[in-house]
Order: sequence, then C-alpha cells, then structure tokens
Amino acid sequence: MAETWTPDSWRMKPIQQVPDYPDADKLAAVEAQLRNFPPLVFAGEARRLKAHLAQAAEGKAFVLQGGDCAESFAEFHPNNIRDTFRVLLQMAVVLTFGAACPVVKVGRMAGQFAKPRSAPTETIDGVTLPAYRGDMVNGMEFTPEARIPDPERLVRAYNQSAATLNLLRAFAQGGYADLHKVHQWNLGFVAGNSGARYADLCARLDEALAFMEACGLTSDTTPQIRETDFFTSHEALILQYEQALTRVDSTTGDWYDCSAHMLWVGDRTRQVDGAHVEFLRGVSNPIGCKAGPTTAPEDLLRLIDMLNPTNEPGRLTVITRMGADQVEAKLPPLLRAVKREGRSVVWLCDPMHANTVKMGDYKTRSFDRVLAEVKGFFAAHRAEGTKSGGVHFEMTGQDVTECIGGAQAITEARLGDRYHTHCDPRLNATQALELAFLIAETLKDLRARLRGLAVAS
Ligand code: PEP
Ligand code: CO
Repeated sequence: MAETWTPDSWRMKPIQQVPDYPDADKLAAVEAQLRNFPPLVFAGEARRLKAHLAQAAEGKAFVLQGGDCAESFAEFHPNNIRDTFRVLLQMAVVLTFGAACPVVKVGRMAGQFAKPRSAPTETIDGVTLPAYRGDMVNGMEFTPEARIPDPERLVRAYNQSAATLNLLRAFAQGGYADLHKVHQWNLGFVAGNSGARYADLCARLDEALAFMEACGLTSDTTPQIRETDFFTSHEALILQYEQALTRVDSTTGDWYDCSAHMLWVGDRTRQVDGAHVEFLRGVSNPIGCKAGPTTAPEDLLRLIDMLNPTNEPGRLTVITRMGADQVEAKLPPLLRAVKREGRSVVWLCDPMHANTVKMGDYKTRSFDRVLAEVKGFFAAHRAEGTKSGGVHFEMTGQDVTECIGGAQAITEARLGDRYHTHCDPRLNATQALELAFLIAETLKDLRARLRGLAVAS
C-alpha cells in the first residue's frame, strides 16, 4: 500500500538538486504568497492533454514537445515567445501534413526556469561559487551575490509564466495559428532547402484547404482550421513552487499541479523513494519521466508503479535520452520490460541531453548525432513492436548558432556568432524544421506500414 500523499509529503523524503535558500522565513513568505495566486492552467485542460497522450500511447497521435533548455528573465520578449511558438507550429504542420498524423503540441515554456546541475558549485580562476540553477533560483552572473538563491525569483517566474501563457493562448486561439496563415509563419524566416520544402508543403496545404472550402469546411465552420491546442510543460524541480500551485480541482476533487499542463521529473531527480517522484505521484496531471542510459528495466518498472499504479493511458510519458551511441543497446530492454508487464506509457525521444559535447569554450550538440538518436529510437520501436510516441527537443525560434551541422552547416568556428542559451545548446529554427521533415518521412513509412497491416489482417 502506498503511503498517504499530501501536497507536502515530498518534504519527508530525501531530495536532490535542492537550492540552499539562506533565508527560510523569506522562502515561507513567498510560498504563502504563491498559494494565493491564481492557477496558471485548469485541470480540465490537463485532462484534455492526457486524452491526447493516450492516443499517442497507441500510436494514433505524435507528440512534439520542445522549447528552451531554460527560459530566462533577460530574454523575456513577445518576439521570442512568438518565434518558438511559430517554429513548433511549423514543425507540427510538417508532421501532420507529411505523415497524416495528429500532432500533440507541448511547449517547454511558461515555467521552464530551473535546471538540475551536474555539480553544486562552479569554479572559475580559483574562485568557487554555488552553481547557477536557473533564473527562478539564482542569477547566472559569476558573483557571490547573484548566486545566492532568492525566493523572490519564484514570484518573478510565476509572473513571467502567466504573461507567456497568456500570449500563447492568444496565438493558439486568436487566429495566428489559422492554417491559412502557414505561408506567413515563414516570412523571411527559414532558409535553404527546408525553407523551399516548407514553401512547397504550404502550396499543397493551400490546395487541400481550397478543396475543403469548396466542400463547405472553412475557418468559420471548422475551428480545427482556425485554432490549435497548445499545452505547456516544464521540469518539476523546485517543489516549493510546484506545491504552492497545486490545487484541488472542484469538478473531480483531485489534486492538480496548476503551474503547467504536464510536469516531468528529470534524470537526476527520478529516485523512486525521493522527493520529486513523491510529489509527482500525487498530482493528476499527465507526468513525464526522463530515462537515461543508467535506467535499468527494473528501475523503470518501479517508477511506473509509483507514477502510474492504475495503468491509466496518457498518464505517464517516458522520455528516453540515451545518446546516439547507446540508444541501440539501452532502449530495447526498457521497451521489452514495459511491454512484457503490459504497462501503458507514451515513449518520447529526447535526442538532446545525452549528445552534449564540449567544443572549445562551448557546449554543443551535433545535428547528426541528434538525428542518429531519433533514428535509433524509431528503429528500436519497430524491432520491438512498440509505439514511438513523439520527440522532445531543446530548440528556439531564434537564428542561433548553438548546435553544429544541419543544412546551414554550422561549424565549430561559428558557434560564437550567436550563442545565446542560458543552459544547453538549442536547435535553431532551420535545424528544427529540417528535423521535422526527416521525422515526417519516417512516420509516413511507419503509418503506411501500419495501414498495410490493418488491411492485411
Ligand atoms: C532537461 O530536460 O533540461 C534536462 C536537464 O534533462 P535530463 O533530466 O534528461 O538531464
Ligand atoms: Co537541457
């Protein structure tokens, strides 16, 4: 029997990656303040996402989850939000149209402000300071003052999340996402081969829309043409913040973490008996769990027992991040174990976090390694007869030079041109779209194969 869960039962468990707040009273005061703030999302929306994810678990939809590694206070600007939203929309259209598959769009946005770190401190030129843990915890500047965790930052993160979400809702529902605007999303934007392929796809989409209009299906009659569902997610790392936004849903009486539609537990905080898993097991949102190369099949099964004991479809997404070199060896045993036990999960591929390398002064990722992990992920699912549910990217709508390779052939020498990330290197808009085209081709084959099997059986 699981122990009783309460929104604060995580406080009795061992916890990793916790900031050292020097002023406990100030932290408590901020938590009290946050408890009185309005929820950022509604439980009904989280349930709708769960239903979409249940479709992805069965291979009937594909999940596209993406955004910054870490959002930042300094880069808070409507254009940045718009550009990330826009490139996610473009990728979604490529996948939906290219593979005739519904795409569930989930941003790493409006709350992705905290970062787990590989070391608690950072040393530069003999000076050691606490590590930067994301803008909701401390400042990135390498000074003793900036690195002190400040609870006020939780309020600022909440406010920025609220404003970001407000704009995302307006974009999703207010006409920006209308499929008749697909050309405009690309004005002066994605260059090269992906740009040309995108223009070609838009032309074909226009024809399809004209045909539908002739049949009486227009933006007025058919809301799916005019607007889209867009969900938010982040790593549930700073549990004081997550607890303060956890509320009882008046329609069901269940607890929901209303800081985002979906929350995930990171690879460094997924201990079965730890605080982060304890917190997430009790909220009814759809939950994600990262699984890296050190995840043994038994560990994953124990996590599944904790996070989804009733085997509810759409409740649990396992986000694997094995690395291009290890995906072939490490992923199949997990797929087999979960299949053998009859557990329903959505499998997502995060081809970013185990493919990070250091080049000179920069952390980077190679487009080819990212693609290689995605391909290995699809291949493993095909071999095991399990469903590839989607992808999880760190990407931005900005034209940054943080990941090497891709059609623009970004080289090590050019990394410094526009390297803006606050944490990990992100795919830029062109690289992200290029990946979407490559994934659409694989998905199209997969779906054609499935349809063939369905006809044959
Ligand atoms: C992340 O998604 O930013 C992250 C830190 O990932 P992981 O927990 O997989 O290392
Ligand atoms: Co990251």
